[in-house]
Amino acid sequence: MAKTALITGVTGQDGSYLSEFLLAKGYEVHGIIRRSSVDYRERIAHLEGTPHFHLHYADMSDSMSLVKLVGKVMPDEIYNLAAQSHVQVSFDAPEFTADVDAVGVLRILEAVRTNHLEKTCKIYQASTSELYGKVEEVPQSETTPFHPYSPYAVAKLYGFWIIKEYREAYNMFCCSGILFNHESERRGETFVTRKITLAAARIAQGKQKCLYLGNLDSLRDWGYAKDYVECMWLILQHKTPEDFVIATGVQHSVREFATLAFHHAGIELRWEGEGINEKGIVASINPALAQAEGLKVGDVVVAVSPDFYRPTDVVNLLGDPSKAKRELGWNPQTTSFEQLVELMVAHDMKKVAADDAAAEIRKVNLAEYLEKGVDK
Ligand code: NAP
Ligand code: GDD
Repeated sequence: MAKTALITGVTGQDGSYLSEFLLAKGYEVHGIIRRSSVDYRERIAHLEGTPHFHLHYADMSDSMSLVKLVGKVMPDEIYNLAAQSHVQVSFDAPEFTADVDAVGVLRILEAVRTNHLEKTCKIYQASTSELYGKVEEVPQSETTPFHPYSPYAVAKLYGFWIIKEYREAYNMFCCSGILFNHESERRGETFVTRKITLAAARIAQGKQKCLYLGNLDSLRDWGYAKDYVECMWLILQHKTPEDFVIATGVQHSVREFATLAFHHAGIELRWEGEGINEKGIVASINPALAQAEGLKVGDVVVAVSPDFYRPTDVVNLLGDPSKAKRELGWNPQTTSFEQLVELMVAHDMKKVAADDAAAEIRKVNLAEYLEKGVDK
C-alpha cells in the first residue's frame, strides 16, 4: 500500500522538493495551501493536476482546519514545514511568528491526537540551527546548548520542545530535524543567498547597479535544499524517533558567497573598507558572461546598508552532521558550496534574461494593443 504524507508549507522551497521526492517514492502526497490574492504556487505548479498530488486549504493558525484535514487525509507521515521563516521579519511580526511557528506545531500534534492517530502517524518538525543562536560552541551538534537569538528562533524553540514533550508523554513518533541553512534556485528572494545570486545576474546584465547587504561577516553552513529533503524522510524511517542535526560541516561568510556568485556572473570583486563603509568593487570583467553596457572596472556593485542589520544577529553557524551520517547513512557533501553557488547563479542568469524577454513581449503586445486596440 502506498504511504500517505501530509506536508504543511508545501508551496515553500523545501515543500516543493519534498513533494517531488515523496512522489518519486510512490507516496500519495497532500499539501496545505492558504488563500492569497496573488499566485504563489510557482514552485509546485508542475505538480498540480498530477494523479497522486492533492492540495487542501488550511492554515497553521486555524486549529479546526488542521483537525478536519488530518481526519480527512489520515496521513502515515506529517512533514510540518509551514512557518513564517524569515528571521528579520520575525522582529517586525513577532506575535504572528509565534502563532505559526510555535503554537502551529502544537496544533498539528493535537490534530493527530484528536483523530486518534498518535500510534500510526509519524511527525517531522522543521527545526533549525537558529536554536543555537548566540552560539555556545562551534561546531554545533545535537548536544550543543540552545541560545535562541530572534523571535523566530524563540518560537522554533517552543516547537522543538513540544515535539520532544509529546514524544515522551504520549509515546508518539515525532522528531525534529535541526537543519542548517539550505538554499537552491527555488530559495525565497529575500534570503541572503538568493538576493545575491539574483543581483549578480541583474548587475551582469545591466538591470541593476548595486546590491545592498547587511552583515558581510556572518558565517553560515550552507547546503543544497534538494539534498536536505532526503534527510527529512530518512529521519521518519529511522527505527526510533530521534532528533538530528543536518548540515554540511563547511562554513563560509556572506562576503565569500557574494565573491563567488559575482565570479560566476562574470565579475571579479575586490573588497575595500570596513563595516558600514565596506564596498565590493569590480576588479575585472569576463565579457563572455557580464555584458552590461557601461559596467567597468572600479564600479561599486556591493555596498552595506544598515537597513539589513538585525537587532541581534546569529553570526557563527557550523553544523556537525556526524550523527546523520552514521545513523541515517546520509552524505552531507552531495552538493558542495561551490556547486551550490554555481547552480544558483546559472539559474538566475537564465531567469533574468528570460524575465527580460517576457517584459519585451509584454511591451510589444501593449504597443500593438494601443495601436490596434486588439487585446492580446
Ligand atoms: P519557505 O520557503 O519560507 O516556506 C514556508 C512555507 O510555510 C510556505 O509554504 C508558506 O506558505 C507556509 N506558511 C507560512 N505561514 C503559514 C500559515 N499560517 N499556514 C499555512 N502555511 C503557512 O521556507 P523553507 O525555506 O521551505 O523552510 C521550510 C521550513 O524549514 C520552515 O519551517 C523553516 O522555518 C524551516 N527551516 C528552513 C531552513 C532553510 O535554510 N531553508 C533551515 C532550517 C529550518 P505561503 O507560500 O502561503 O506563504
Ligand atoms: N536576508 C538577508 N539580507 N540577510 C543578510 C543580508 C541581507 O541583505 N546581509 C547580510 N545578511 C546576513 C544575515 O544577517 C544573516 O546573518 C545571514 O546573512 C543569513 O541570513 P538569511 O539568508 O536571511 O538566513 P538566516 O540564516 O537568517 O535564516 C535562514 O536559515 C535558518 C537556519 O539557520 C532561514 O531559512 C530560517 O528559516 C532558517 O531557520
